[in-house]
Amino acid sequence: MISPDILAYCISHSTSPSELVKELGDYTVKNISGSNMLIGEMEAAVLGFLIKLGGVKRVLELGTFTGYSALAMAEQLPADGTVTTVDINPHTTKVAREYWDRSPHGQKISQILKPGRDALAGLTGTFDLVFIDADKNGYPFYLEWALAHLSPRGLIVTDNTLWSGKVLTPAQDNQTESIISHNSQARELLGYTKVLLPVRDGMYLITKS
Ligand SMILES: C[S@@+](CC[C@H](N)C(=O)[O-])C[C@H]1O[C@@H](n2cnc3c(N)ncnc32)[C@H](O)[C@@H]1O
Repeated sequence: MISPDILAYCISHSTSPSELVKELGDYTVKNISGSNMLIGEMEAAVLGFLIKLGGVKRVLELGTFTGYSALAMAEQLPADGTVTTVDINPHTTKVAREYWDRSPHGQKISQILKPGRDALAGLTGTFDLVFIDADKNGYPFYLEWALAHLSPRGLIVTDNTLWSGKVLTPAQDNQTESIISHNSQARELLGYTKVLLPVRDGMYLITKS
């Protein structure tokens, strides 16, 4: 969305994740296919800011991948904060745990290795932050679930809601349609405050307050 120089300038003036998170990002880029799925430092900084601002303690993440975003969020949580993160890929989930085990914040993170819908069926309680970043076809369902399981001042952040600009041209493919549907659902919500930020591939923020 913005030039690499401007992005680098913004990142250099924002709170950085730890060197371990950066190492995990580098490892993922070099060794794991689909590394463009990483949220990266700019989005990590925004999530960290929201965690601090909202006094977030209980995070649910859909889409662990190699654990970059989960660890970046865990670093911003208080000592009694938790991240529950869900993914279906055993290989990337194993990489994630290996890195988390090297961090004092790793103990805040618990993994569920299941399809998102199955994992959600087994969860109880409410969450202060639900970060939706798993299969795009599941976005409308994940949004409905998150709305029903938000704490009173809770926040939903859905990633890739601009989908490289494809949301401007409907009827392309199932994933684009699903993201458009999620975005329409969010826009029509009554009693919520929302903003779709053009950060990276689109971060849709929705809060009850
Ligand atoms: C965009 S990546 C997550 C990136 C991660 N949040 C980060 O920035 O470090 C999406 C992840 O969703 C996972 N995924 C795909 N389908 C899924 C499903 N049905 N349930 C749960 N996870 C799924 C993929 O295995 C992939 O690791």
